[in-house]
Amino acid sequence: MALHSIEETAKAIAALATGFDGDTSRRARLLAQIDKLRYLVEGPTDPILTQWASVTTISALSILTSTGTLAAIPRSGTVSSTELATKTGLDESVIARCMRLICIQGIACEPAPDRYSHDAKSLAFIEGHSKHLFNTLLDHIDPFLKSPEYFRTHNSAALRDVRHAPYSYGHGRDGIAYYDVISEKQERLEAFNGTLALINETLPILGMFPFSSLKAQVEVEPHRPFIVDVGGGIGEVLKEIQKEAPAGFGAQMILQERPDVLRSLDDEAIPHITKMEHDFFTPQPVKDAHVYLLRRVLHDFYEPECVQIVRHVASAMAPDSRLLIGDFVLPEKTHLGDDTFLYWMDFAMMMLTGKEKSAEEFRSILDEAGLEMVKIWSSPSSSASLFGGGATFLFASETMLFFGGGGDREDSGEEVFLLRFLADLLPALPGEGDPAAGAFLRRDEDREREV
Ligand SMILES: C[S@@+](CC[C@H](N)C(=O)[O-])C[C@H]1O[C@@H](n2cnc3c(N)ncnc32)[C@H](O)[C@@H]1O
Repeated sequence: MALHSIEETAKAIAALATGFDGDTSRRARLLAQIDKLRYLVEGPTDPILTQWASVTTISALSILTSTGTLAAIPRSGTVSSTELATKTGLDESVIARCMRLICIQGIACEPAPDRYSHDAKSLAFIEGHSKHLFNTLLDHIDPFLKSPEYFRTHNSAALRDVRHAPYSYGHGRDGIAYYDVISEKQERLEAFNGTLALINETLPILGMFPFSSLKAQVEVEPHRPFIVDVGGGIGEVLKEIQKEAPAGFGAQMILQERPDVLRSLDDEAIPHITKMEHDFFTPQPVKDAHVYLLRRVLHDFYEPECVQIVRHVASAMAPDSRLLIGDFVLPEKTHLGDDTFLYWMDFAMMMLTGKEKSAEEFRSILDEAGLEMVKIWSSPSSSASLFGGGATFLFASETMLFFGGGGDREDSGEEVFLLRFLADLLPALPGEGDPAAGAFLRRDEDREREV
């Protein structure tokens, strides 16, 4: 056991805890150090017990949410397991055992023996977008458990084939792509869209690429769309960008998505945004837009599909169009106590035939698609907290970094951009802080317009 490391980490915790006022960024750093201290102190069998506890908690919460028991706890005051059993029909001893398990972890409270009340963390499982995140997690459990069986019966080529996602296999839908499987059930699609919305509340969109710097360029040529958000989800990203680019500087803002996602969107909910059905594996129909955005799209796929997607965008770009790519970037190697989010997300992507990628992997995708990396933009701040003073998990420790550029470069005319996200606490990427090694994209002007 590295006593020195333990003492150093404990000192870092003490420093961060002194005067802690709930600041999101500081909370993320504090939690990371607390996790690190735990890893340093744990004995050989402790991780197994920790995982056991985690699975047990997920199970208890699944019982409590699926039976409506958690929702039956009043918003103020307390309730007993017997009263909850009367309301939900679930055995009272099951309720008490599940409640005790979550209360000791700060999810709900037991202020008096067998009297339960909500707190912000227990409410997060049944309210707002966070409940969708939990439902999405539950929806992935069967595929996770069946993944050893998947790897016994599928080879590497199948893993990279969108029709053979481990997720689809785990739900008995092998041969059907992940996005088609989630569209098969309304509650799945709702949980997925809610999870996206939650992520977007948490991961910053602004503060990296300077959208406002495009004002003059767009206003000179407003007949060209300002931005095309390819695989743009439910329009949250474009709405946020409007804070820097009110009404798209008078030019079109286009949300390209799958038909069922667009159908679920009311026009009033996404003002100044034009909905357009588009499959990003087909040629890009909107030519010469000022900006094309691929945010959190490429991590859904392995390299060959990413190259296809980027090529379709590249073929539609004017010489001064920009491509922004938003994704996490994997560092060269892991370090004890690194933020788990990135690796958790990468594993989740593996279940959907996708992967998080390193800067070099992005560079080679762009090279193959005829584009050159031009600049990396970093997020200046950590993400916002999920629920005010409530739970701090998953994305709360994340910081998004931007690849991209041009807004502040004199020769930005022919550049395209890459945006990236990266955890605040991860070590710097190779080249970070080194302008010579900075990641830049440049459009290959000699490219054929159609691919
Ligand atoms: C991880 S989400 C990211 C959404 C959004 N860009 C964001 O940052 O919140 C990927 C999106 O790609 C969409 N998508 C998947 N396959 C697609 C396809 N072939 N063509 C267009 N959109 C697709 C999905 O519906 C989903 O909304």
